[in-house]
Amino acid sequence: MKHKPKAALEQREIAINLYRSVWEVRNDGWTHLSDNAARLVEAEERGGDIELARSLVAETLDLLEPIESYWAFPGRSGFLRLSGLFQDREYAGFNDLVHRISRALSSQSYRKSFVSLHLDEKAAVEEEERRESEVRTHRPYFEVLVVDEISAQEEDVMRERLRAMRRDEDKFIYELIVVPSFEDALIAVLFNFNIQAVVIRYGFPLKSRYKLDILRKLVEGYESEGLEVLPESERGCLLGTKIAQLRPELDLFMVTDVSAEDIAGKLCESFQRVFYRDEDDHEKHFSILRALEDRYQTPFFTALREYSQQPTGVFHALPISRGKSILQSHWIQDMVQFYGLGVFLAETSATSGGLDSLLEPTGPLKLAQELAARAFGAKRTFWVTNGTSTANKIVVQALIQPGDIVLLDRNCHKSHHYGMVLSGAHVIYLDAYPLNDYSMYGAVPIRAIKHHLLDLKRAGQLERVKLVLLTNCTFDGIVYDVERVMEECLAIKPDLIFLWDEAWFAFAGFHPTYRRRTGMGAAHRLRERFRDPEYRKRYEAFAKEYADADDARLLDARLVPDPDRARIRVYVTHSTHKTLTALRQGSMIHVYDQDFKQKVEEAFHEAYMTHTSTSPNYQILASLDVGRRQVELEGYELVQKQVDHAMALRESIATHALLKKYFHFLTTGDLIPKEYRPSGIEAYFDSEQRWARMEECWQTDEFVVDPTRLTLAIGPTGIDGDTFKHDYLMEKYGIQINKTSRNTVLFMTNIGTTRSSVAYLIEILVKIAQELDERNEDMSPQETRLHQLKVEGLTKRLPALPDFSHFHHFFRAGSTTPEGDMRKAYFMAYDDSLCRYIAMPELQRRVAAGEEAVSAMFVIPYPPGFPILVPGQVISREILAFIEALDTREIHGYRPELGFRVFTDAAVAETAPEAGGATISRIAAARAQ
Ligand SMILES: Cc1ncc(COP(=O)(O)O)c(C=O)c1O
Repeated sequence: MKHKPKAALEQREIAINLYRSVWEVRNDGWTHLSDNAARLVEAEERGGDIELARSLVAETLDLLEPIESYWAFPGRSGFLRLSGLFQDREYAGFNDLVHRISRALSSQSYRKSFVSLHLDEKAAVEEEERRESEVRTHRPYFEVLVVDEISAQEEDVMRERLRAMRRDEDKFIYELIVVPSFEDALIAVLFNFNIQAVVIRYGFPLKSRYKLDILRKLVEGYESEGLEVLPESERGCLLGTKIAQLRPELDLFMVTDVSAEDIAGKLCESFQRVFYRDEDDHEKHFSILRALEDRYQTPFFTALREYSQQPTGVFHALPISRGKSILQSHWIQDMVQFYGLGVFLAETSATSGGLDSLLEPTGPLKLAQELAARAFGAKRTFWVTNGTSTANKIVVQALIQPGDIVLLDRNCHKSHHYGMVLSGAHVIYLDAYPLNDYSMYGAVPIRAIKHHLLDLKRAGQLERVKLVLLTNCTFDGIVYDVERVMEECLAIKPDLIFLWDEAWFAFAGFHPTYRRRTGMGAAHRLRERFRDPEYRKRYEAFAKEYADADDARLLDARLVPDPDRARIRVYVTHSTHKTLTALRQGSMIHVYDQDFKQKVEEAFHEAYMTHTSTSPNYQILASLDVGRRQVELEGYELVQKQVDHAMALRESIATHALLKKYFHFLTTGDLIPKEYRPSGIEAYFDSEQRWARMEECWQTDEFVVDPTRLTLAIGPTGIDGDTFKHDYLMEKYGIQINKTSRNTVLFMTNIGTTRSSVAYLIEILVKIAQELDERNEDMSPQETRLHQLKVEGLTKRLPALPDFSHFHHFFRAGSTTPEGDMRKAYFMAYDDSLCRYIAMPELQRRVAAGEEAVSAMFVIPYPPGFPILVPGQVISREILAFIEALDTREIHGYRPELGFRVFTDAAVAETAPEAGGATISRIAAARAQ
């Protein structure tokens, strides 16, 4: 192999400078080190340029040295050994060791068995065998971070001491990493996702001795101010608090030199336990393992597995249980062959024998849901086996009584609209900002929500307002500043309840950047804030300044709620199955409501009973239990990788000459208008500015984009979103996606996405782009003209997205505020005599002439998938224009052969003197109550 020094140098530069993620830098660093170590040996053997090869190796070693100080394998001493060999010019041994480490890292074999770093092969095998019998494989592996300023020698002694504690019956196995400072500890917990526990010594310096930019970036924005003035002895507590904010799932321990009793009193809840000096190592070892076991346990999954192993005779329902009805069949054996017997052994209708009842849990299901509440930061968590469609209805029914006002994002999932009908809520629809160029909506600005609340207050209706219901993140990945929305709303109505539909956001609680923008994360932060004396001062200043402020001033101000009056009442629904490990329909309701016990518990119970099957699927429940274990142990790593993969995709499309011609991923700037982005950040990646700091805009902007939602604009292909999805991605290449708009398709990365699946997608897009190039080249002039028209139609002449019009006054019961009684309209529509169909042209003519037509139905085009009309809504000219311009195949609630189902004039005439209109309306209204 001919050595090409210049190119190699450039390549290395690229690997270090362009990648966004420090994890990729590490992976690539080892790949480069392997290549360059091999070159070094080759140069030595064949008389090549050794000095050049040495300089390449030296540079990579310099890069990796700080990075490796945060990982247990190969660890500080392993890395020192490697550097020693290089310094001593033992190139063959160096090359051998680099390859061994690199292989162990890429295959992660170091997690499963001990990897010797001995140079001598025989000695290495012996050491591995010895360790093997001492350690045994197939136990989950993790790393424990020790924060202490000690020498490499002391570190080795500590490591050996803890290794000596290992017993065959230990369920897990761990290795130590020691870091010397506050900053290093933060870097370590953000960088090393193998860490599950942290042992913090009492005093240590603040600053890391490493200055590697890519590592320092990890802690930017996470450092605490005022650290310098904090006495060393108090740093341990603060570090614990800081780590708990970043990765709350980690187990924290403290080792102190001062009286443990003294410290224990002052410590925050973050620490599991305080040890006095070098108290018994056994105690530490057991505490670390026990704490991990607490997250590892899966009470319901374990109970179900145990149950499946018990011999039982089935003399009740469910013939499929224990696979009986299949195993005896001559015709359906393939079902067992496909699924395996385990799933049927676990099928039972029993709630006894160690199992539990979801409707009245007292055993493993109760505990499993409590563990889920801990993991997701809720006070209470309830599992749902019929998806978030049902979870949403349960929450709405539990919180709302007929006549209560709900502020609801019009673009939210249909389950909410039906929930409003079921509960009898009077709905005020909130309009999200439109993205006309892409036929999609953004999210609802806080100003619009405040506007409604202030109007309601002025109209004396505020008491009736119960709930604000928003989708976070939206299908297209727009994320709210959840904390700000709740804070400002609570300043107007201190007992307002919030339901955040996080169907697509269950993963977000496991990453610090995302967490603060989740319902549960924000609830915690607000609770802390309202307890803070500094906050109280801020409130007092605000209250004074704005005592007599009119609505216009309040709209412009950042409102501050009264900490004595504001209640934190937050509900979140998760389609766990959409973004975490769970079987289809596995969902959760998380509750952080200070008034739950006093005001909601019983109603919630009834609502839960209303919607929950008496035969909930046990496999779904078990998958929720296991999914919870997974995120508590590796959620951070998985979410981080999910983001990295998405960023890699963005970079590839933005820098690929052919792909750029037809496709681009919509950026923050495309999806969020400037006024909601004070950070000024336009894109996470752009080929000129390179990477922007995601964390920066996530701290300041009213809306941000979830980078793992990748909306690909495909207008220049001349193919619409739906056709591109079906004919190109799915049929030709088996790529599954969910949502499309007229000129976009939405890709998502998730916790199961791999680097190779990202590479596959890029490959497919390149193939499609090549096909399109060929197609365009072969077009006749007429075809080219037609094609241009199509492209223009998809990129320039898009129908404007209409706002919600308003409810007809018949459904507003004389109110001056806009809330409407959808339930009344919904049930009135059951009566054919009150409805009629009107075809599109006729309806357009009537509406243009100023007549009011009132929809009797939900009309929901797919895509975009939200109701363009709801029962009781007045049909506007803009809505008709939008529907007419839509080229979607499915419009639910609209019958092309008949037209729109609307109420007859008589049905909605409140005081029609003749023709019995009023009578009909009264009858209908009475029937609807
Ligand atoms: C925002 C939102 N909420 C709720 C749901 C319903 O979730 P599930 O499919 O779990 O019933 C969906 C489904 O797509 C959704 O997009």
